[in-house]
Amino acid sequence: MKRNNTANCIFYVFLVCILTSLSPVNLHAQTSKTITINTDNSIAKVQSNMWGVFFEDINFGADGGIYAELIKNRSFEFAKPLMGWAIQRAKANEGEILVVNRKEENITNPRYIQINTEKGNFGISNEGFKGIGVKKGLRYDFSVMYRQQNTGVKLRLQLLSADNKIIGEGNLNPEKSSSDWKKQSTSFVATKTDAKAKFTILFEGKGKIDLDMISLFPGDTWKNRPQGLRADMVKMLADMKPGFVRFPGGCIVEGTDLANRYQWKKTIGPIENRQLIMNRWNVEFAHRPAPDYYQSFGLGFFEYFQLAEDIGSDALPILNCGMACQFNTGEVASLDELDPYVQDALDLIEFANGDITTKWGKMRADLGHPKPFNLKMMGIGNENWGPQYLERLAIFTKAIKTKYPDFKLINSSGTDPEGDRFNLLNTSLRNSNADFIDEHYYRPADWFLKNAGRYDDYPRDGSKVFVGEYAVHADKNVIGSSRNNWQSALAAASLMTGLERNADVVQMASYAPLFAHIDAWQWAPDMIWVDNLNAYGTPDYYVQKLFSTNKGTDVIASKIDGKNIIGQDGLYASAVTDKISKEVIIKISNTTDKAQNIDFNLEGKRSLKTKGYVDELANTNLNQLNSFENPDAISPKRNSITVKNKKLSLTLKPYSFNVIKIPFTK
Ligand code: AHR
Repeated sequence: MKRNNTANCIFYVFLVCILTSLSPVNLHAQTSKTITINTDNSIAKVQSNMWGVFFEDINFGADGGIYAELIKNRSFEFAKPLMGWAIQRAKANEGEILVVNRKEENITNPRYIQINTEKGNFGISNEGFKGIGVKKGLRYDFSVMYRQQNTGVKLRLQLLSADNKIIGEGNLNPEKSSSDWKKQSTSFVATKTDAKAKFTILFEGKGKIDLDMISLFPGDTWKNRPQGLRADMVKMLADMKPGFVRFPGGCIVEGTDLANRYQWKKTIGPIENRQLIMNRWNVEFAHRPAPDYYQSFGLGFFEYFQLAEDIGSDALPILNCGMACQFNTGEVASLDELDPYVQDALDLIEFANGDITTKWGKMRADLGHPKPFNLKMMGIGNENWGPQYLERLAIFTKAIKTKYPDFKLINSSGTDPEGDRFNLLNTSLRNSNADFIDEHYYRPADWFLKNAGRYDDYPRDGSKVFVGEYAVHADKNVIGSSRNNWQSALAAASLMTGLERNADVVQMASYAPLFAHIDAWQWAPDMIWVDNLNAYGTPDYYVQKLFSTNKGTDVIASKIDGKNIIGQDGLYASAVTDKISKEVIIKISNTTDKAQNIDFNLEGKRSLKTKGYVDELANTNLNQLNSFENPDAISPKRNSITVKNKKLSLTLKPYSFNVIKIPFTK
């Protein structure tokens, strides 16, 4: 059916009127409010590492995530040695594949497989981590450790698409290796893209061959490092310019029991010697079981330091304090057996910073990094609490501060930002003048809004706060509650204005968790979602990025009627100057369904330029998500602004977060 232009126009106006009247959002701003910004006086310094990231191997964040290895269970050390592997023929002959254990000879990597092709050719295939992501035209690097007495067995390597078509092929002719293990590699190029491919090795010829560390990496790893990290995931971090990288967690530091705790010394050196253990998230949640979740430690402490250095961030390792997760076994190391734990902390500082003539400094140099990593701080314990924690922490603190008086320590305040556990630790740690107290909050959106002024009345002297983990956890019935909808991100942004305003107290903060694989997550919401080929940032990603790339150097006062802006008319705001880029930066969220006219009075002696801009995140639908299909649904849009006579008038959209930047000459 055709309509003429006039009819179209009338219909359109009518539609807009109807929609506007039905919409829960009032797009028309009412009267103006005035916000006064004092552009001269610094009321607090913003630390250059204020906004960081929290990395944990949760949700297949490391193995199956940022660690780009495509083969699952490459060394046959999972509890079920052939998990992830299948024999490539309907009926296998007995003895074709044997799992051999040599634990007396090799305690860290005891198992390998022995292939016997005497009775005919066959193959094995690996399913990858929820499939293997393959990109057309990309090189794939295969390597294997093997042993064979004769040169009888050859390997035909195939990438197979989800519908079993060959989409990449290579060959490996292992040389004779007598009784020693050898490593051999080859590369080939994929002919098709497939997010759910698998990898097959067909054995040709007659003989026996032992295989271990069967590995396949994409050729486009971060900085092209062999057996390195997924470049797209690292880039998303690098783009945030995070001030620090907290690693390796999280609860993973604690372990379900002490044997399962994270031990950094076991994560460095040749990857075949890094002893695999079960990932604690394997068994943590009955409703999200992950029986194939292990830690290969291909991403180990050396790689974490290197990652932090690559993206210009401070390294912030968190170490086990001699206590396993108190939600699990709650095991504690006996006080007279705490020494190895304390020694791990001391040795880590030497590993990161020590001269290459020291034992651990030499180890760092041998791994390819003679220059120190310049480690300045570490956390002792993750979410540990109670007098047992304080007792153990005191021993760590004494040992570390005696040797390294300026080294900063981060102490746990438990699992919650209030309550008995928190009160005991917060009081004791402040009394003992702790450097940093790590506060965690996973709370609903309204808690975040109510707590935007949490630090306005905190003591200015003594211990500083590290908000080491936080995220809005929306009501489970809310659409997108587990995927970070716009409501979560807007509430987080509002609270973050309170962190920024109190940058003298809250000196570091990181959202948690960071990554989640769409087919393999245990915990949600998370900041960045990935599948085998792609990654996208949630609305929270953009909030975090806007804060960390606009952190400024000095907090300046921003007020409505002489008061901090913590919810008057649903507004939350903070402001900084950046003395390096010469900008006044105002962050303001409008959490109401109405547009709001704001007049900013930019008081002070600064010579402000007339042209600036605002980066705006806005959506009238609080349930709006980003997704693989629509990764930028909530993402910053830039508009120009004009400043006249030190005044700026802006209409803030309903449900919006805005970063306003006004350059100055002096
Ligand atoms: O971020 C997920 C988990 O939340 C962390 O591992 C733990 O520290 C907290 O309980």
